[in-house]
Amino acid sequence: MKKVTLGPQTLVYPMPAFLVGALVDGKPNFMTAAWGGIANSNPPMLTVALQHHRYTLKGIRENGVLSVNVPSVDLVRETDYCGIVSGSKENKQATCKFEVFFGKLDSAPLIVQCPVNLECRVVHLLDLGSHTLVVGRIEEVHVSEECLADGQPDVDKINPLIYSSGVKKAYRKVGEEIGAAFSIGMEIRRG
Ligand SMILES: Cc1cc2nc3c(=O)[nH]c(=O)nc-3n(C[C@H](O)[C@H](O)[C@H](O)COP(=O)(O)O)c2cc1C
Repeated sequence: MKKVTLGPQTLVYPMPAFLVGALVDGKPNFMTAAWGGIANSNPPMLTVALQHHRYTLKGIRENGVLSVNVPSVDLVRETDYCGIVSGSKENKQATCKFEVFFGKLDSAPLIVQCPVNLECRVVHLLDLGSHTLVVGRIEEVHVSEECLADGQPDVDKINPLIYSSGVKKAYRKVGEEIGAAFSIGMEIRRG
């Protein structure tokens, strides 16, 4: 297989399309973030990489908390909108008609319409260059009841948005299941 080098760049697949929330000057604001993921299991932690000047980051700094909301595919327009327009110019919560609720942390706004909501307390803010890496300890997780199966989150019911870059910047959805994890690999030994 012939390989072509592209130089150092941030190319991984797939990426999430999170809606990161914070109170900024006392008002809920949400921004789209594709650069984020799981960082630690015990205690549970995640990261999001935000450009230093993001209005949302100002609120995260102010309160020491953030929310990470996982939108489903039906929120594709709202998710994109929150990635185009800044909360410094407009109340995106009102424009997107997001209903907000609060859980354990009283200044991490959560979006009712998103099937998964994580409340996080900031444990590190790392200046990496172009971005601040926010490391958040997950304090509570909320999942819409209809997205559970046997009490566990069901990805098909959650139907999360996925973001992909490269030749085309686009939102996608989760595809079909192709194998049982921690299991199908053993088929190699069986031949
Ligand atoms: C698909 C998508 C992914 C994005 N991912 C990030 C990201 O990971 N980090 C970041 O700083 N900005 C990201 N952005 C840009 C911000 O969401 C955008 O600048 C937004 O308007 C910031 O909102 P705020 O000013 O209200 O904080 C993304 C935008 C889109 C459309």
